[in-house]
Amino acid sequence: MEQKVDIQICLGSSCFSRGNKVLVRVIEQYLNENNLRHLVHFHGAHCFSSCDKGPLMSIDGREYQQLNEERVRMILNEIFGPVSSVL
Ligand code: FES
Repeated sequence: MEQKVDIQICLGSSCFSRGNKVLVRVIEQYLNENNLRHLVHFHGAHCFSSCDKGPLMSIDGREYQQLNEERVRMILNEIFGPVSSVL
């Protein structure tokens, strides 16, 4: 059976207020646009205790820091392959 990609986004108060509030929606949108929902377990997480490097998320245990919308899309493209998304 195929293992799902595990995406955790930090919803601690620091990351949330510094961008993850919006990035949750960016990731949701990306997964929907590219029909990746069934391949991914996407969920929120408590503070990762790295607030100074936030906002951050982890994908299959690897932490990605200082995120913004562009970086998130780039990271997801690297993982799922270049997707000709609607621009
Ligand atoms: S709030 Fe995200 S690492 Fe602390």
